[in-house]
Amino acid sequence: MTLNFRTPNQESRILSVGSYRPSRIVANSEIVDRIESSDEWIRERSGIESRRFATSEETVIAMSKAASELALKRAGVPMSEVDAVIMATVSYPYQTPSGATELIRELGNPRAAAFDISAACAGFCYGLGMASDLIRAGTAKYVLVVGVERLTDFTDPDDRGTAFIFADGAGAVLVGPSRESGIGPMVWGSDATNREAITLEPSWIEIRDSAEMSWPEISMAGQTVFRWAVYEMAPVALEAIQKAGLTVDTLDAFIPHQANLRIIDALAKAMKLPERVAIAKDVRTAGNTSAASIPLAMDALLSERPDLHGKSALLIGFGAGLVYAGQVALLPPEPK
Ligand code: UT7
Repeated sequence: MTLNFRTPNQESRILSVGSYRPSRIVANSEIVDRIESSDEWIRERSGIESRRFATSEETVIAMSKAASELALKRAGVPMSEVDAVIMATVSYPYQTPSGATELIRELGNPRAAAFDISAACAGFCYGLGMASDLIRAGTAKYVLVVGVERLTDFTDPDDRGTAFIFADGAGAVLVGPSRESGIGPMVWGSDATNREAITLEPSWIEIRDSAEMSWPEISMAGQTVFRWAVYEMAPVALEAIQKAGLTVDTLDAFIPHQANLRIIDALAKAMKLPERVAIAKDVRTAGNTSAASIPLAMDALLSERPDLHGKSALLIGFGAGLVYAGQVALLPPEPK
């Protein structure tokens, strides 16, 4: 017995990117007093000079909507034609229904398929890989992938290990069909033996059952995550390049998760990326925005370097879980 259908012979690609940066710029000087730190220490250890903190109006959904509308406009595709919306986030403040369902209603297509994924800083790359496979299999024609965070809601401003690093923002890409291969195979996996290295605790149950427990906040064993990212992610990145049929000499850009400038530099060095490969360093003014960082950095890089439209970029996300995913994708063409 066989089923009577054929998988379409089609590839996928990123058609456009859009992003939203919260209006409030927060310099290191605003953060340092509460954590006994200094502008110099933060710049040296993380490369961060400033970041954006969302105002109360700049909700997860408001930021996602702004980034998504820009991506749709740039692609010239109406929301009514989008079949599915995948939202990567760990900071949408409701467990259910998903943030993606609130977003599709706001965007005016409440009938699209919609779901959230919880893969922290790897969430955008997980979403992009799924969107690509949905399109290539013929399940969807257009998929909107959104990475969004309001990490300030879950960061303790007095915690020396996280207060200076995490920030807010949103980015979105529209993925659609293409004759040429535009999104390479995803290389993904986990190191769940280290899943305690980044946590958002306590759980709702613990809060309910204990008088002392309060609002959940992120805690991070910074050095453990740093070492894992630097040593384990370079081979993953190289495998993604190889699976896309490229080499470091034919790659055009490197847009990793913007966790820490030292991690970005160490990965580029470990991969022996030639000087000519453009490297996204948005972390300097965006901080670490987890699932939002790659599309935010992509949009920023394309506005600095419009010649990179249509060129290849290695994307790699890594974080809480510990989970990771990476792929090479063609950057979107110049907006219509
Ligand atoms: O996005 C999800 C994935 N996350 C990441 O990839 C983040 C990975 N980790 C990191 O980026 C880095 O670990 C941090 C930027 C978070 C921290 O940098 P570090 O170089 O690992 O600092 P450390 O924790 O090893 O601390 C070094 C020193 C310590 O002092 P001693 O023991 O050497 O005297 C700390 O007490 O710096 C001190 N320190 C600080 N000083 C000023 C720790 N935090 C601070 C601070 N300000 N905020």
